[in-house]
Amino acid sequence: MNVLLLGSGGREAAIAWKLSQSPLMGKFFIAPGNAGTADYGTNLALKPTDFDAVYAAVCEHGIDLVVAGNEDPLVAGLRESLEAKAAADGRELLIMGPGAAGAALEGSKDFAKAFMGRHNIPTARYLTVTEANLAEGDAFLESLTAPYVLKADGLAAGKGVLIIDNLDEARRSLREMLAGQFGKASAKVVIEEFLSGIECSVFVVTDGKGRYAVLPPAKDYKRVGEGDTGLNTGGMGSVCPPPFCTEAFMAKVDEKIIRPTVEGLIAEGIDYRGFIFLGLIRCGEEPYVIEYNVRMGDPETESVMPRIASDLLPMLVATAKGELTDTTLDIDPRTTVAVMAVSGGYPGDYAKGKTITGNLRPEGSLVFHAGTREGANGTVETAGGRVLAAVSYGKDIIDASAKSYAALADINFEGMYFRRDIGKDLL
Ligand code: AMP
Ligand code: GLY
Repeated sequence: MNVLLLGSGGREAAIAWKLSQSPLMGKFFIAPGNAGTADYGTNLALKPTDFDAVYAAVCEHGIDLVVAGNEDPLVAGLRESLEAKAAADGRELLIMGPGAAGAALEGSKDFAKAFMGRHNIPTARYLTVTEANLAEGDAFLESLTAPYVLKADGLAAGKGVLIIDNLDEARRSLREMLAGQFGKASAKVVIEEFLSGIECSVFVVTDGKGRYAVLPPAKDYKRVGEGDTGLNTGGMGSVCPPPFCTEAFMAKVDEKIIRPTVEGLIAEGIDYRGFIFLGLIRCGEEPYVIEYNVRMGDPETESVMPRIASDLLPMLVATAKGELTDTTLDIDPRTTVAVMAVSGGYPGDYAKGKTITGNLRPEGSLVFHAGTREGANGTVETAGGRVLAAVSYGKDIIDASAKSYAALADINFEGMYFRRDIGKDLL
């Protein structure tokens, strides 16, 4: 089985690490990948949203399965494009990731909220606002209590959610968003009731026929500063599993959220074969959906993949075929903690091209590259905000995080920063 994985972040590095261990793996390519993914397969310099280039790679390398790591190509119609090209050539090609209709769960917050409404899936009350019903938007804001949650409808590189403390500012922000603060993505804005609780991420693999497997849940740390302060980032670390995701809680998630989501997709005629990421919040004992994503989470994947003991490749193949009959996975009982090292200044401006020194293959921990590239003379240098994740197993959060921090103590680049409190809130 020849596989092409699309993406270049820490999530793709963790998926590549896992898939590369499969006895079923033939030739393995990552596009575009990073300096670390070259350890697991062959990097191909192409853009995942350039479908012609993706398909050319499929043909050149005899790819059997394409796995979409990130959402952009899926929302833009990767599946439809590849399926059409493959059909025209009489080529069999499996794709892990939904078509554009399913990808709208992430690509349009308005679609996701309406979908949850249609299938009685618990989520915050909301109203979708455009220039046409601005007065209604103001009235809805007035009916809520602070803080106010405003979300750009479309993809905004993870930056399209504003949480605002006062009503006047919320009204102002609503207007700024509609006027194009996030470009076309905020021509529609979803206003939501604020939910208070603890967040977790749950990952489902589903085959479009109602069968699904649930991967271990994780918690990510979105704020840049310790104690969950400062700006939102792509994610500064993750813990798998969060202790509050008890069996009883996960059973509720299954009954009230996963099953209705999978069945809702089928009821709406959406042939969804891929990952579903449920961004959940636990309020009291009850789970609510904060968001759907149509891919794995980053940096959750970095702590989730190491806990999957079974071969993952057969599950992805079965999912892509719509034949996920075996939904069992062996899960490592240990806890994993991923700590993300980022470039100084991130999530604001930061420098690239800083040489990374130290031990990138520490004994007893995994280092997944994110924003890295090959530098001169066999060096590795920084190429992004989130640079790499150190991930370790432990008997508990304290044990696993101590190992990840020990691994990071041996790695250095100018401006390197990481949070020293990943998992501490869960103790
Ligand atoms: P999203 O991109 O939709 O996941 O939102 C980003 C972050 O904003 C989430 O991870 C939550 O921390 C927060 N958030 C989003 N919606 C709500 C809500 N309705 N209530 C409270 N917090 C929210
Ligand atoms: N860690 C959150 C995300 O991947 O969207």
